[in-house]
Amino acid sequence: MSIIEKISSELENFNVNTAEALEKFRMQFLSKKSELQGLLSEIKNVPVEERKNFGQQVNLLKQRAQAIFEEHRARLEASAPTQQSDIDVTRTAATAELGSRHPISLMMDEVCGIFERIGFTTVTGPDIEDDWHIFTALNFPEEHPARDMQDTFFVDQKPDIALRTHTSTLQVRTMEKQQPPIRVICPGRVFRNEVITSRAHCIFHQMEGLYIDKNVSFADMKQTLLYFAKQLFGENTRIRLRPSYFPFTEPSAEMDVSCNICGGEGCALCKHTGWVEILGCGMVDPNVLENCGIDSKVYSGFAFGLGIERMTMLKYKTNDIRLYFENDARFIQQFTAAGR
Ligand code: DAH
Repeated sequence: MSIIEKISSELENFNVNTAEALEKFRMQFLSKKSELQGLLSEIKNVPVEERKNFGQQVNLLKQRAQAIFEEHRARLEASAPTQQSDIDVTRTAATAELGSRHPISLMMDEVCGIFERIGFTTVTGPDIEDDWHIFTALNFPEEHPARDMQDTFFVDQKPDIALRTHTSTLQVRTMEKQQPPIRVICPGRVFRNEVITSRAHCIFHQMEGLYIDKNVSFADMKQTLLYFAKQLFGENTRIRLRPSYFPFTEPSAEMDVSCNICGGEGCALCKHTGWVEILGCGMVDPNVLENCGIDSKVYSGFAFGLGIERMTMLKYKTNDIRLYFENDARFIQQFTAAGR
């Protein structure tokens, strides 16, 4: 079998079913390095009497290779779209479903933002604390009922360690680390050994605020809290302070805001008083400053603590605190559009 016959037979029997096979075919018969191309450059070496015939055969073979190649290419191109016809590459991709933010997280961010805009810094600290940071440094008398097993989750076999019952622990931690001026807010989870009802839960969230500097007065506190109430509940919101008692502040107060549901007219939520209580506050007791290494003759300041769930219930007009812990998506998704 001559070389021409050999190549011709290979050419005719080459199986071209895929684009890869077509490329192999091209390399084998049509590329510069192929055997067939090699024959073309051999023509000039063939004895003169055979040259014409040889040249014709090689050229015919080359034309045949080119024709087979074109034929297969056309066939493969024609069948390609039908193989993929069920995939529409122009179609808009399905969007991934995004979750939504929990109303408590939204409220935390909102409240922190209000204070951050007037120069407060957000700090956080441990949920599991010692007696010093929860009670002793905050001027709780030894026999104070809040230390009772009724309210506090203690760690078994370690009577000194407990889950914090309030975020006031962070007042102590901040003042121990830093000298005034101090302006911090401290959001976090707190724990109390209480029966769960629509109004109380054993886990909830608080935000503590602390402002310590020279010449800080009760009037500064009142104005700061009025600003806060207006930012959160609207420009027309009014506040009032009622005398109260906390071991760590003197004087102490509880703050009410005008009811945002009835606008102060009186309704079921405000028990027809026109006011709802939202936080505890006061001037930091000099004993607390001294316990934390701050000179109470030079510095004074105020502190406040508010319940995030209470604030959220007021703002969104919900009446059962348990909803915030059940994580029923139908409830949670109502507070913001997904992905905000
Ligand atoms: N720690 C208090 C509580 O858990 C809230 C509180 C009241 C915090 C008065 C304060 C404050 O900083 O001055 O009920």
